[in-house]
Amino acid sequence: MVTIDDSKVPNFIVIGAGGVGVITALSLCIRSKSNVSLVVRSDYDHVREFGYQIESCDYGSFTNWRPDHLYRKVEDASKSGTFFDYVVVTTKNIPDGPVSSRVPVIIKPVMESNHYLNAKRPTNVCLIQNGIDIENDILEAFDKNLYNLSLLSGIQLIGSTKTGEGIISQVGQDHLSVGAFDHDDSHAVAAAHAFVDMYNNSGHNIVNYDPNVRYSRWRKLLYNAAINTTTALVGLDVPRCLEFAKDKKSTEEQIFLPAMKEIIALAKSENIELEEEYAHHFVNFSRDIMFKPSMCIDCEKGQLMELEVILGNPLKIAERNGVSTPVLSILYNLLFLTQSSLKEKNGLLKFDESKARIV
Ligand SMILES: *[C@@H]1O[C@H](CO)[C@@H](O)[C@H](O)[C@H]1NC(C)=O
Ligand SMILES: *[C@@H]1O[C@H](CO)[C@@H](O)[C@H](O)[C@H]1NC(C)=O
Ligand SMILES: *[C@@H]1O[C@H](CO)[C@@H](O)[C@H](O)[C@H]1NC(C)=O
Ligand SMILES: *[C@@H]1O[C@H](CO)[C@@H](O)[C@H](O)[C@H]1NC(C)=O
Repeated sequence: MVTIDDSKVPNFIVIGAGGVGVITALSLCIRSKSNVSLVVRSDYDHVREFGYQIESCDYGSFTNWRPDHLYRKVEDASKSGTFFDYVVVTTKNIPDGPVSSRVPVIIKPVMESNHYLNAKRPTNVCLIQNGIDIENDILEAFDKNLYNLSLLSGIQLIGSTKTGEGIISQVGQDHLSVGAFDHDDSHAVAAAHAFVDMYNNSGHNIVNYDPNVRYSRWRKLLYNAAINTTTALVGLDVPRCLEFAKDKKSTEEQIFLPAMKEIIALAKSENIELEEEYAHHFVNFSRDIMFKPSMCIDCEKGQLMELEVILGNPLKIAERNGVSTPVLSILYNLLFLTQSSLKEKNGLLKFDESKARIV
């Protein structure tokens, strides 16, 4: 017999227990309007026994903190008999990575178990991740009607890191915007509003409903596509990228601003108007803050970067809409080589030197 968890509060499963995922789960738990499961891959044994130790600028100090349920794997959660109303994905989005780390593959077990437990009850998948067109992979993998799927977008600004086994340090306030990828999907819009309410710890975090997710994602891309990519290529934080430039100007004038102008043109080709002011604002704002974007840190750690969702997908749009993007294309093609080198180091790509070919 199948047991369906029909408790009144919605069930959340947060997949990805890094600095972002743990604070996301904590925020939902503190609000106490939902039942929260967290998938904790590498730290599972430690967290099960000792809980998390959290220093949070939003909520204070915790020792021994655990969400309502912990799972080692998404498969284990899918066998629990729980219907997960909200599947919240806080992993990195690397579609060119190993098959097992691709988002549709990661969430498949709970999508299937939800469908099996109750084919009519809606499943809301919320991607709290960077990038453009990340919803397409999900829509290709899961039929919207068959799974009664609503897709939500989360854009999060937060400074939170996992600094050790079960140890989380949050130094920057959590600011989350949630909306429906498709603003004509009334179920997704309602689910996004409900999500915002279940996440709203007024006076601690900041959460808002985002009526225009595509616009917000393109605006964030201005920064990500121009600045994060450059820092990853050269292995420098943002202020050094600006200061070490020829006459202290060439990075801003020859790389950042031209790349951002191409993003603005690309967004325009998709009927999204980004103000050019933002480009200057992002450059000015980042000049004084010692900051190394995650793409640069991933590269330094030998981990794959979120290259396809940050540059690969926008360049597909450029090709489709006939927009010229010389600067972004060079950044992409150079980073593609870097990504391939990271793949080789991680055993995902084999090069035979005796043949001088990929094998
Ligand atoms: C999806 O869920 C909604 C809300 O419960 C319901 O109204 C609708 O009929 C469901 N759709 C399908 C295709 O099952
Ligand atoms: C969050 O809660 C506060 C206090 O109840 C409320 O004033 C605010 O409007 C809520 N925010 C959202 C986005 O619903
Ligand atoms: C950026 O800084 C420059 C030089 O200080 C200034 O002229 C410009 O107005 C600033 N732009 C924005 C949008 O902040
Ligand atoms: C790029 O840097 C921004 C700005 O801090 C950060 O929020 C984002 O996660 C980074 N994205 C990638 C793909 O590195």
